[in-house]
Formats: sequence, structure tokens, C-alpha cells
Amino acid sequence: MPTKLKQAHSNWVEGEYFWGREHELELAARKIKEGAHMLITAQRRMGKTSLMRELARKLSNEGEFYCFYIDLEGSSSAADAIAKLSASTRAHQPVWGKVKGAFANALSFFKDQLESLSIADVEIALRAGITNNDWQDKGDKLFEILANTDKKTLILLDEVPVMISRMLRGIDGTITPESRAQTDTFLTWLRANCQKHVRRVHLILTGSIGLEPVLRQGQLSATINHLEAFGLEPWDTATASSCLQALGRQYGIDFAPGTLDSIVDHLGSCIPHHVQLFFARLEDRCMRSKSTQVTLADVEHAYKEGMLGNAGHAELSHYEERLRLALTKDDYTLALDMLTEAAVTRSLSPAALEYFRRDEAARNPSPENQRQVLERQRNLIWILEHDGYLKRKGEGYVFISKLLRDWWKARHGGFYTQVSKRSGQ
Ligand SMILES: Nc1ncnc2c1ncn2[C@@H]1O[C@H](COP(=O)(O)OP(=O)(O)O)[C@@H](O)[C@H]1O
Ligand SMILES: [Mg+2]
Repeated sequence: MPTKLKQAHSNWVEGEYFWGREHELELAARKIKEGAHMLITAQRRMGKTSLMRELARKLSNEGEFYCFYIDLEGSSSAADAIAKLSASTRAHQPVWGKVKGAFANALSFFKDQLESLSIADVEIALRAGITNNDWQDKGDKLFEILANTDKKTLILLDEVPVMISRMLRGIDGTITPESRAQTDTFLTWLRANCQKHVRRVHLILTGSIGLEPVLRQGQLSATINHLEAFGLEPWDTATASSCLQALGRQYGIDFAPGTLDSIVDHLGSCIPHHVQLFFARLEDRCMRSKSTQVTLADVEHAYKEGMLGNAGHAELSHYEERLRLALTKDDYTLALDMLTEAAVTRSLSPAALEYFRRDEAARNPSPENQRQVLERQRNLIWILEHDGYLKRKGEGYVFISKLLRDWWKARHGGFYTQVSKRSGQ
């Protein structure tokens, strides 16, 4: 392992910015080589995109695979995704040569200028040539090409749940029979092509919100049963500490005894991005005080003022926004209450859960609604566990990340009365 590490300044990291994850890289590479298609699951900022990009870099360098990484954040249809994937092949001439041929009609307008266009422009041109009626044919052709080149192909699709959620819920947020059918067709088509070209075309999917909860809402979970789940855990204490030390060496900073443990303890869960953020705050503090050693007082200050302050806010408010995106308005309100209760009392108890159910059901006390509320709450707990907010502890649920808990409490706890102190309790 290298001894120094450069700080991350982009959304994802690779190469000399990438730390640890040796075991995960090796395992993922082995599974792919054995013919698996995978779904990388983990909460946001755990390093899913980074792992995919580093894996793609390694496998490309080894020479056995062409790797195509595609971010579907801005896509909302099957045609969008196929245009994106087709355009990304331009990075590899042997593949691009064939793709260009298959899309000759759409690209004919550009003739000689084609090679000077940016990938984004190529994508726009290709997109104009794909309709809602012929995307399957065009997509099949693309897979056929990818399966018949001189190397194997690895397709890495990022932000899939965002795209699927958009397909499923449309602009107004409701799932219609048509939107469900379209999403089903796309995912079933993708699975069929993976199965048809097994051991030639390999697929890895991921995204910042869980794919399974999104599919569950549309009762489409079976469409991804060909994917092997690959969970990415937070760094262990040793990896987080070695990362901090390697960053320290790069920027001329060392850590006083006990400070590394204290940082890890404050975080509770060593999500790589939070480790990096913590270091950035500490470095900032050392520079201001012209010091080269991090002390326990620095750690305390950086946590309270930096991590729970503006720097943390920019990062952690995503946890709230993502829920807003993934949930209906009523479920979002219920989830917010459950999380605030967990942050303020440190544990979301069965009694509090029951209180929230009664509170919800009071708005419509029919037995049918009572049942629905229970089902909705179960589903929310499942999402909150799955997306890395809460974990079960004893009878109740607690925040996995102490940082997120403290931030959540600071943000939402101010005007919140915990359930046990409410009248009637
Ligand atoms: N292996 C790693 N080495 C160093 N930093 C990492 C690593 N993985 C993640 N990070 C940090 O986390 C941030 C988010 O990584 P990213 O791959 O975008 O996560 P995700 O896709 O899970 O949201 C990076 O900018 C970097 O600060
Ligand atoms: Mg990502």
C-alpha cells in the first residue's frame, strides 16, 4: 500500500486518490471474471462510484476487458440509456467503429466532423436517432456488438435507481400502469441481454439510493434477480486510521496520541467521505494555527464547528433530500419524525413506532388504513435500514453514523418533542 494519499476533490476517486478496498477490488474482479452481474449496494458516499471506476481502471489495464462507465443521473428513458452507452464506446476505437456503423443513419448528418464531436454531442446525435418504438432493436444490436469484440465488455451503470425512479414515477411522482410497464420492459430487456451474452458482456449496477426499495414500490423486484448483491461496508478502524495518516504524510501533518481513535469514535461509522471531510477540516485548522500536529482539542473543534457546521451541512443535507426524492410526501413526513425521534432519544423504540402509527391512523381511522399504516411503516424501516440510516439495536433502531445522528438532531431536534414527553403518553 502507498504511504501517502492525495485529498479527494471530486465526487469519486481512483488511482493515487484511492485508498484501501483491496479485498473488495479483488473479490469484485473475480466475480466479474467468473461471469457474475452485480449490484453494488451501500449508502451514499461509501465509495461505490470510486470502487467501480477503480475496478474499471484495473481491468482495462490488465487488457482483458473494455470497460464502459455510464452515469444515468440525467437519464429518464431506455432510449437515453442506450444513447449514453453507445456514445461511451467512442473511448475504444475497435468498438466505436462497429457502433458507428450500426447508427449510421443517426450519425450521417455529421459525416467528417463526427470524430471531433465531444462524447456529450455524440450522445445527443445518437439519442435523436432512437425512438420509443425502436430502442429495443437498437439496444439489442449494441449488445450484439459488445459481445463480439476482441475483448470482454464490462458495463458499469451508475445512478440506476435515480433513472428507474424517474421512469417509474414520471414528473408528478405517481406510478401509473404505463410507467410501470415501461420500466418493467426496460429492466427485463436488460436482464435478457445479460443472460444472452453471459461471460461476454458483464454488468455492474449501482446508485446513491437503494435500487431495491425503488423497485419494490413498483413491484418490480424480480427484474433484478440476475444481479448478485455486492455490499460495500464502511472502512474498518484500521483502514480509516491508515487513510488519515497517509493524508497527513502528504500534507505534512501528524496526529497526537489518541487523536486517530477519537476521530473514528466521533464518526461512529467510517464512511470514506466522512473520513476525508474530517481530515480536510483538521488540515484547515492546522494551517490557520500554523501547526503540524493534530491535537484532541483540534478533533473536538473540527467536529463541532466543521463537521456539524457548514461543511457537514452541505454533505449531510443530501440524506434528507434523497428521502424526499424517493418517498411520497406522507411517507417522507413519517420518516422525518422517526429519524428525529431516533436522533433525539438515541433509539427509536417500539413504543414510539406505535405512537407514530396511531398518529397517522388518526387521520383516517378505518381498519384498512390502520393496516396500511403498519405496512408503510415497515417499508420505511426497511428503506432506512437498507439505505444506511438506521440499524436494529435491541428492541429499537439507532443511527448507524454518529455524525449523521448528531447532525440530524441539530437540524431537526430544536422544536421536536420526543414521544415519551408528549401529552397522552
Ligand atoms: N477508496 C477510497 N479512497 C479514498 N477516498 C474515498 C474512497 N472511496 C470513497 N472515498 C471518498 O468518498 C467520496 C465519495 O466517493 P464516491 O465513490 O462518490 O461514493 P458513492 O458513489 O458511494 O456515493 C470521495 O470523494 C472520497 O472523498
Ligand atoms: Mg456514486
